[in-house]
Amino acid sequence: MVVIIREYNPKTDSDRVEQVENSCEVGPNGELSLYTDLLGDPICRVRNSPAYLMLVAEMVVSGGDEADGTTEIVGMIRGCIKTVTCGSKFSRNKFGDCVKPVPVLTKLAYILGLRVSPIHRRMGIGLKLVRRMEQWFEDNGAEYSYIATDDANEPSVSLFTEKCGYAKFRNPSVLVHPVFAHRLPISNHVTIVKLTPFDAESLYRNHFSTTEFFPRDIDAILNNHLNLGTFLALPKRYIWEGPDKFLSGPPKNWAVMSVWNCKDVFKLEVKGASKLRKGFAKTTRVVDRAFPFLRLPSLPKIFSPFGLHMLYGLGGSGPLYTRFIKALFGFAHNLAKECKCGVIATEVSSEDPLKLAIPHWKVLSFTDLWCIKRLGEDYSDGSVGDWRKSQPGLSIFVDPREF
Ligand SMILES: CC(C)(COP(=O)(O)OP(=O)(O)OC[C@H]1O[C@@H](n2cnc3c(N)ncnc32)[C@H](O)[C@@H]1OP(=O)(O)O)[C@@H](O)C(=O)NCCC(=O)NCCS
Repeated sequence: MVVIIREYNPKTDSDRVEQVENSCEVGPNGELSLYTDLLGDPICRVRNSPAYLMLVAEMVVSGGDEADGTTEIVGMIRGCIKTVTCGSKFSRNKFGDCVKPVPVLTKLAYILGLRVSPIHRRMGIGLKLVRRMEQWFEDNGAEYSYIATDDANEPSVSLFTEKCGYAKFRNPSVLVHPVFAHRLPISNHVTIVKLTPFDAESLYRNHFSTTEFFPRDIDAILNNHLNLGTFLALPKRYIWEGPDKFLSGPPKNWAVMSVWNCKDVFKLEVKGASKLRKGFAKTTRVVDRAFPFLRLPSLPKIFSPFGLHMLYGLGGSGPLYTRFIKALFGFAHNLAKECKCGVIATEVSSEDPLKLAIPHWKVLSFTDLWCIKRLGEDYSDGSVGDWRKSQPGLSIFVDPREF
């Protein structure tokens, strides 16, 4: 068996890669499994990152050779590199009189979309793909590499932790909420303002730049066509007069949230459900659609391809700020309903108090496992030391491009 690892070629590989993608479940293969449809663009999940690469594993079928076309794509991997916050240190301002925390940055690589076709597993192909991707990370100066997987995905966890030197690092929670057929009410005490990408950038850089995983190119995210906007929830009486006024004298309570349109990037589908379960889900939907004023919770069509919006950059301040987060959540739900999404999702640190404030369904939500590896020992530790050994902060910034 000869397996060649090479760069993905969109002209010749797209259909063959999609076939492998469609045959692979994401996460553990239980009674119900989650599948992705990348809408004909296998590179879509990394193409918005500052530096990215997609590799494929191509098997030369016995008796054939590459020249006469008897090759088969049996696996693929995507990776990207960006600069993020890995901690903070205290620094004086230029007049030397005020000490404030400033971010410490690192060049971080991320592995995603690793797939090996079911009949070619356990032949060392996944390992080969990871090793080649890590070579590209090192050649491009990345200091750490990380992956996100489901804790229960044994093949993936054991591949990365036992064979590739990754350590378990963070356990953020992915909170998922169905999009109902009725609208959610929004508190009368809250005004929601849509910020320009420029204003959103100043707010985020001011309040979030020392949060772990905060991307240095936040402006690229906020200006991306997939970003549906950044929304600020303010007390009804507060008048928004621009970011400078807000940053110098914010109201007692406020909250912020941005929305990313994953629906135009990929679709998901839950497969393996019984007819009974599907029938039950359909009935809840029909009832909700017929009587929206009853506000009955209903299951969206998750057993056929569905899209989602991701809520990111959630935060705020004040003793009542979680109420403002709830108002933003209602707003995001209604936006997702207009856009015909199946669910809305967000990801927060396991220690984040927001976890309790964000409405979600436990049955659809899960805990993510992030594993990290230090790629080189020959660079300075800086003020943070070895990031792998640092204590988790209260929050993390989850980049919507990688969700
Ligand atoms: C995870 C996945 C990519 C592994 O690919 P693979 O080509 O079968 O992996 P390899 O043959 O290179 O295995 C390397 C090591 O991974 C671990 N591993 C792989 N499959 C495993 C399994 N089913 N159970 C336990 N460990 C497993 C083992 O440590 C293995 O080494 P060993 O064979 O010497 O024991 C593949 O199972 C897959 O595509 N799964 C579905 C998609 C997915 O979950 N992707 C990961 C998301 S991050």
